[in-house]
Amino acid sequence: MIDTHTHISDPAFAGEEEDVIQRARQAGVEMMLLPDVDSTERGAMLALADRHPDVLRPMVGLYPGSVGADWEAEFDLVERQAAERSFVAVGEIGLDYHEGKEFAAQQKDALAAQLELAARLDLPVNIHLRDAMGDFLDVLRAHRHLGIRGNMHAFSGSYESFLELQRIGDWRIGVGGVVTFKNAATLSDVVRRVPLERIVLETDAPYLTPVPYRGKRNESAYLPLVVRKIAELRGIAPEEVDRVTTASAHALFNI
Ligand code: NI
Repeated sequence: MIDTHTHISDPAFAGEEEDVIQRARQAGVEMMLLPDVDSTERGAMLALADRHPDVLRPMVGLYPGSVGADWEAEFDLVERQAAERSFVAVGEIGLDYHEGKEFAAQQKDALAAQLELAARLDLPVNIHLRDAMGDFLDVLRAHRHLGIRGNMHAFSGSYESFLELQRIGDWRIGVGGVVTFKNAATLSDVVRRVPLERIVLETDAPYLTPVPYRGKRNESAYLPLVVRKIAELRGIAPEEVDRVTTASAHALFNI
C-alpha cells in the first residue's frame, strides 16, 4: 500500500514520528507521501522526509487555507524550494471556502500559479477542495492546455463530478477513512462506480480516522481498514485493491 497523503510532521505526532513510520511499515505500507502546507511547516516536513528517503516522499505547494493577502510571497518560497530539490507532486493546493470566501480571488490566483508550476516541473498535483467545486472546475477549464494530471485528495464529490473531472484532465481520487463512515453514501457510490485504477489510498493523518478508531488520531497503519472497505463495496479481494491502488500511485507520482 501507498499512503498518498499523510501529515507525519504534524505536531499531533511530535516525538512519535519514528514509531508511526514503523507501525505503517509493519501494516504493509511501503511508502508515504507528505503534502506541503506552507512555509511555517515546510522545514519540519522536509527534515523528516530526509531522515527516511526510502519511505517518505515530500510534495511542495501552498495549502489553500494558508492563502491570504500575502500569498505571492509564500508562492515565491514554493518556487524557490521547487528549484532546490525533487518532489513527487505540487500539493496540497486547491480551494477551500469552508471558512468563508474572503480570500477566494487570491485562492484562485494561487491555484492557477501552482497549476502552471506543476506543468513547468512536469509533476502531478495533489488537490485539496472544500465547498468550491464550481470555481475549481472553472480554473481547471481555463488551464486545460497545461495537460494537468493529479489526484483529488479526500474526494467528496459525486460520481457526476468525477466524470466531469475526467473530461478536463487526467484525475485520480484519494480515498481514505471517510469511506468507512456510516454517512458516506455519496462516497460509497463513487467508490463502487469509478474504475479501480482511478483510486489511490490515503489517510490525511492525523485527520479522518477510519472506523473503529473514528475520533482518535489517524495514522498510516490504519490503511488496511480503508482497503477492506473499498474491497467490500466493490465485491473484490482486499489484495486486489492493494495491488491496483499501489500500481496507480506508482504511476501517478512516478515513484
Ligand atoms: Ni492534508
